[in-house]
Amino acid sequence: MASFKDKIDLDKVPTHVAIIMDGNGRWAKKRNRERIYGHREGVNSVKAVVEAAGEIGVKYLTLYAFSSENWSRPKEEVEALMSLLVQGIHDELENIMKQNIRIRVIGDLSKLKADVRQAVEDSMEKTKDNTALNLVIALSYGSRDEIVDALRQIAQEVKEGKLEVEDITAETISNHLYTAGIPDPDLLIRTSGEVRISNFLLWQISYTELYFTPILWPEFKKEQFFEAIYNYQQRERRFGKISEQLSK
Ligand code: FPP
Repeated sequence: MASFKDKIDLDKVPTHVAIIMDGNGRWAKKRNRERIYGHREGVNSVKAVVEAAGEIGVKYLTLYAFSSENWSRPKEEVEALMSLLVQGIHDELENIMKQNIRIRVIGDLSKLKADVRQAVEDSMEKTKDNTALNLVIALSYGSRDEIVDALRQIAQEVKEGKLEVEDITAETISNHLYTAGIPDPDLLIRTSGEVRISNFLLWQISYTELYFTPILWPEFKKEQFFEAIYNYQQRERRFGKISEQLSK
């Protein structure tokens, strides 16, 4: 069977793809297994998608691994997710170095347990000179908190006389978010059939193409990723203009 990969125009690959990985629990439930079984298979999907993104030259891949709201899940599930993350980083670090991947973690890291935070910080430090793919992991992340943080920093700069109120622009806000320096996503994928944003990158997705698929995250592997990229390439992004203006 022909793969969607062969249909992808390699000159028009999105620079930044963001993903809300959803449906691990439902996937496990369908199999009469514990939710954690779904998260474990979800890690295999993460590996597959990271590889796929690297193969076609995506420069930034942002994964929503754990939201600020996820802290209110049962303690065992929170711990299982954290240990999957730490274990995943540990097991994959050699591969990540080989694939020249830079890891960046965004979110409120102050809420993480010391060992998790250490693992995350080590992985960022070890991979900081890698240049192929930026793997951005949103962990303990909430977009409203991120915007509140940015506004506080900006207000502080105004208070200290480092910034004039008239000089505050959209760029000022972008530059104070956790994602400072990272281009806005071109494509946002959400799996599992839910059609909402769930406090993810609210500011950054103003012009992002949205792709919702019923496929559950543990079933979302390379081919499903390539299909999403192909689908994105069939769209016309107008950024508020009309078609005729774009072809000029
Ligand atoms: C959503 O499924 C998934 C999550 C909340 C966690 C995603 C985390 C991983 C795949 C593992 C660790 C991540 C990395 C980067 C190694 P859900 O539990 O909300 O599923 P449901 O909606 O069906 O209950």
